[in-house]
Amino acid sequence: MNVETGKLGTPKLGEARHPAISTQAIIAQDKVKAPGWVASESYAFLGDEDIDTHRYTSAEYQAREFERLWTRTWQFACREEHIPEVGDYHVYDIGTSSFIITRVADNDIRAYYNACLHRGTKLRASGTEGSATQFKCMFHGWSWNIDGTNKDIPCPWDFPHIDAAKMSLPEASVELLGGFVWINMDYDAPTLREYLGPEALAHIEAWRLEDRYIACHVSKPIPANWKLNMEAFMEAYHVPDTHPQVSPTNADQNSQYDVYGAHVDRFISTLGVVSPTKEGLYSEQDVLDQFTVGDASIVTDKPIVPEGERARQVMADMFRTGFEKAANADLSNISDSEILDCFSYTIFPNTFLFPGISLPMVYRFRPNPRDHRESIYEVLFMRPKPNDGSAYVTAEAVHLTADQSFKEAAGMDAGFGGILDQDTDNLRMQQEGIEASAKHGLTLANYQEIRVRHFEQTVDRYMSLDAKVPDWKNMPRR
Ligand code: FES
Ligand SMILES: [Fe+2]
Repeated sequence: MNVETGKLGTPKLGEARHPAISTQAIIAQDKVKAPGWVASESYAFLGDEDIDTHRYTSAEYQAREFERLWTRTWQFACREEHIPEVGDYHVYDIGTSSFIITRVADNDIRAYYNACLHRGTKLRASGTEGSATQFKCMFHGWSWNIDGTNKDIPCPWDFPHIDAAKMSLPEASVELLGGFVWINMDYDAPTLREYLGPEALAHIEAWRLEDRYIACHVSKPIPANWKLNMEAFMEAYHVPDTHPQVSPTNADQNSQYDVYGAHVDRFISTLGVVSPTKEGLYSEQDVLDQFTVGDASIVTDKPIVPEGERARQVMADMFRTGFEKAANADLSNISDSEILDCFSYTIFPNTFLFPGISLPMVYRFRPNPRDHRESIYEVLFMRPKPNDGSAYVTAEAVHLTADQSFKEAAGMDAGFGGILDQDTDNLRMQQEGIEASAKHGLTLANYQEIRVRHFEQTVDRYMSLDAKVPDWKNMPRR
């Protein structure tokens, strides 16, 4: 007997789907047709073992993650617009590691280890950015040029044992993609493009996220391990119970899930379509009237859905016009699905990219190196740059405290802030529940929770490797 369906014979494990209309069938009815990266599927069954919860509850496990996982993976450190001019820098921290991301020339961005080569003092404080002509240590005044070469060592007569020409700041690898600056501490790592694989790379290149800018940036400490924090955003299975206000307009439990190699996975969750859990309860007009996702300012008045038309189509048309006007951008080549739907991609280990227009987010999750039960969650909204070249302002990060609502952050849509509050309110209860449980494993759905399994399998892959802690003696130097 098939354990998923209770039926004899078919389907095989991982092949069962919600009986409601599929994501692809919903999208296929749209007027402005979806591109190949939307209109395709790439699910794989990856097993059905429980996920051992030690990974969420152990400080020692998190310490090993820093040696094995974070030192080998590509991470989004900042956006290029954070450092537009030569000499601009932005400090990126991961765990206790810290990097000064610096634009050295128009096409040359470097990531220096943020520590003095004398007695180790940080050269720039965490969380800072600015413009520099040199990086000078506050303690005894050793200094470096912005190209990382040593500039000055006070009292050189007292350091006959060192060669200043060999005292350049050590660097992590840097690659640029989609307007993001990515860094990797491992010189032996695959390139970013190899790491993503050809299929996921083609998706990312199609989005042209380099043509977006940061319209809103919010960070908040969350009382849960960073991996639980990530996993809260990997499926739409939770939508009917956690976000009941969304279900009238979100095809949640018939969303689509895909995996691409080891480091990328996604879901597509269509909007303007009623949840299968609310089937028959709402007319197409009700669906339109209840729509609250996305940027409320775009929706000024909600029209009548013509007889025989789908609320989804009316919304796509309305959003296209509204976003074109609001962003002064030409969206005529963008499909209805891209305008409307929620596309959530994870780039391992800690970045989510949402290339849609109505939900244009980037999420980043980082562990608190001093508390494995806390993580920092960041949400950025990336709007299209004005197509007439007019100015845009890169939003500065708003840092919420643990007890503030996402709704309080300037620039955050109140409806969306409420959804994030619902997601993160679950996390304290989940962290504490896992610690309280007699069951030391998470049981996952084969389809709807495939991203959680895929993510944790890649965590396992890195955790099975030896520790690899950067050591400047063995690093290639300029
Ligand atoms: S620690 Fe930096 S100059 Fe001494
Ligand atoms: Fe959610």
